[in-house]
Amino acid sequence: MKLFDVYPLYDVTPVSAKGIEVWDDKGQKYLDFYGGHAVISIGHTHPHYVAKIKDQLDKMAFYSNSVQNPLQEELAEKLGKLSDCTDYDLFMCNSGAEANENALKMASFHTGKAKVISFKNSFHGRTSAAVAATDNPSINAPINQQQEVTFLPLNDFEAFEKVITSDAYCAVILEAIQGVGGLDEPSTEFYQFIAKKCKENNVVLIADEVQSGYGRSGKFFAFQHHNIQPDIITIAKGMGNGFPVGGVLLHETFKPSYGLLGTTFGGNHLACAACLAVLDVVDNENLIANAASLGSYFKEKAVEIPQIKNVKGRGLMIGLEFDFEVADLRKKLIYDEHIFTGSAKNKKLLRFLPALNITKEHIDLFFEALKTVLK
Ligand SMILES: Cc1ncc(COP(=O)(O)O)c(C=O)c1O
Repeated sequence: MKLFDVYPLYDVTPVSAKGIEVWDDKGQKYLDFYGGHAVISIGHTHPHYVAKIKDQLDKMAFYSNSVQNPLQEELAEKLGKLSDCTDYDLFMCNSGAEANENALKMASFHTGKAKVISFKNSFHGRTSAAVAATDNPSINAPINQQQEVTFLPLNDFEAFEKVITSDAYCAVILEAIQGVGGLDEPSTEFYQFIAKKCKENNVVLIADEVQSGYGRSGKFFAFQHHNIQPDIITIAKGMGNGFPVGGVLLHETFKPSYGLLGTTFGGNHLACAACLAVLDVVDNENLIANAASLGSYFKEKAVEIPQIKNVKGRGLMIGLEFDFEVADLRKKLIYDEHIFTGSAKNKKLLRFLPALNITKEHIDLFFEALKTVLK
């Protein structure tokens, strides 16, 4: 059997990693400013993370959601406190798409409606309703297109008002900082307008924090920069630091009932151990504050580079926009300078999504390398 060939691969084979350093099979060291697509939040192989997972593995890796699992309760408690979202309940699943799928389903159950409002350039995952709410026709199969989704431009108050008042929508789904799309954001006024209109029209507001959450933006959740309260928050990526896990935070106005949502693997013991370790480290090492201050440092350095036309994003979720397409630049960074960065739908944008415990020295190394490849 061979692999179903859907990923264009760089010719690099990582075999070990520590912090933001990754080594390939030939012993070459790389600096990881991509975090495996915003997944590595507390750094690769953090000792507390490794110890907690190993310890849990020795005890028990998995049992299903048909028995008591105090680790899930401990996680919900810690997550609520650290994120300042104590009035939400946690449902655990396995990925970002699955989190959004469940969020959209809950919105539909809650309102009895089926249509969804999403935004231009959004990305919410590759499954059923999540991919339908993703602004990319090339990954929407006919089966996904049965879902009715209206894509609106970000920050267009008039267009939003016209649609939301039509009494047909169950949900608005929104990234507070677009990841895959290229780091565009709703303004605070627009996000607050959305929240207000959702309330008035009984439409569920879903904050997709799969990429921007878990401290990456310099606050626990990126929507917290805008002083609004979503009805549902979805999380994944940084939550498990590489362990596949996702979650849905439902405001306590949503009433659960047995069987309403479910999953075999979601919230298993090993996943909980990984997630608890991540929260311990985020808290003990002040990683949210680090993301905020190092994001500012990064931006100060970026504006000194003349080829960079625009610096987007917040905290350690940053996009550098050039006046040329960056595919070659990214290749040079990997093969010549041994630095991983990310790309976006906006082909002129280089994405920077490192672990939240990087240092100024790491950022200096990145800019030295960038200057070299831009010569
Ligand atoms: C904002 C956002 N939502 C959802 C997803 C889907 O997450 P997953 O790939 O874990 O299904 C992604 C993945 O990049 C994302 O960036």
